[in-house]
Amino acid sequence: MTLLQFAIVLLLGAIAVLLGVFIGYQAAQGRLRDLRARNAQLAAQLQLCEEAEVRAEALEALGEASYNALLLLDELHRVVHLNAVARRLFTVEKGSDIAPGSTLLALTRHHEIDDLVTETLESGEDVESQVMFDDQVFRVRSHLVRTDGEPLVGLALQDISELQRLGRARRDMVANVSHELRTPITSLRLLADTLKRDERLAEHGLWLLDKIDDEIDTLEQIAQELLDLATIESGRAEFILKPVPAAEIIERAVQHFTEQARRNGLEIEVQAPPDLIAMADAQQVERVLGNLLHNAIKFTPEGGRITIQVERANDKLQFSVTDTGVGIPHDERSRVFERFYRGDRARRGGGTGLGLAIAKHIVQLHGGTIWAEEPPNPPGARLVFTLPTPEE
Ligand SMILES: Nc1ncnc2c1ncn2[C@@H]1O[C@H](COP(=O)(O)OP(=O)(O)OP(=O)(O)O)[C@@H](O)[C@H]1O
Ligand SMILES: [Mg+2]
Repeated sequence: MTLLQFAIVLLLGAIAVLLGVFIGYQAAQGRLRDLRARNAQLAAQLQLCEEAEVRAEALEALGEASYNALLLLDELHRVVHLNAVARRLFTVEKGSDIAPGSTLLALTRHHEIDDLVTETLESGEDVESQVMFDDQVFRVRSHLVRTDGEPLVGLALQDISELQRLGRARRDMVANVSHELRTPITSLRLLADTLKRDERLAEHGLWLLDKIDDEIDTLEQIAQELLDLATIESGRAEFILKPVPAAEIIERAVQHFTEQARRNGLEIEVQAPPDLIAMADAQQVERVLGNLLHNAIKFTPEGGRITIQVERANDKLQFSVTDTGVGIPHDERSRVFERFYRGDRARRGGGTGLGLAIAKHIVQLHGGTIWAEEPPNPPGARLVFTLPTPEE
């Protein structure tokens, strides 16, 4: 081999080695790039995990701060999560996990609560109810969420025993006070009557006594209305629902007010087909109509007209009292049913603001609704309520 040939072989060898090194370097670079990309991916995933953890901790803190017992359940009613109040309520010790796969029924042993979850899963809608648990009354609400198609049901239980107790105490107090007021009111009336018969009394004295009489009337009405409201609210009022012709109830209610309407220069018109039958406590409904008629007379100036109507509306009867008086402003139409609510000074007309509150309770106890609406020919007011029918 000549020197030249040897040099060429050496050169070729060197080139081959260099090529090998170059290819190896390129491959290593590629792998490095892959590793870097994977690294970045893992870092992003880690960040997401950390964020999810922070969010889960924040949500847990929120749950722990709640006064309500909160539970999260899966499709098979298994408890996924519960807060401290729920643990205490269902006596699961804090810190100790509930047995894996425990169902709501195993935890609470309460079928009604379990049924709420079934209903929510089936309907997909929020369900609300009241249940008794451990001698306490709870308002329960359930809500459905879907995460990745998997249904989860959130359940919140609010202890309302104290609220109910306070409501009862308020009603009892109102009932007692109004009952106690009756005796002094009766005595006042007797004293005023005795004074009126005193012949030595001057004209001015008599005039003052008439004023006293008016005030006693108002006092008596307040006491009676408070007592009625407390009795109805407490559920102690006896409601006996029977089929009664609507026209009969209306006729009896109107009779009471014919004279007063005539004195005020008002006309009362009744539109009541004789075949409409309501499922109602006639005396109580007479009371509702009486309160509405009394208002219509009070708030309608001389020359006005009051129309009482009853008609069938789906499976209910719809009663309405429409007048041509001052009317009820739009933004007051739901407030007039609140206890003691009275419109502005111009529309007070002497009253305690309990008439419509009582009417609302009576209608609701019949399973009906009551509302105020725009009359067909304003100005004026129109009060409407519904009652069940025997078919319903
Ligand atoms: N027909 C009506 N026209 C105009 N305003 C009305 C009518 N009915 C009720 N209102 C308004 O609603 C308020 C509440 O009525 P509600 O019957 O409850 O109380 P009241 O009539 O003031 O007092 P009470 O009925 O206790 O004697 C009234 O003060 C009045 O402002
Ligand atoms: Mg009234």
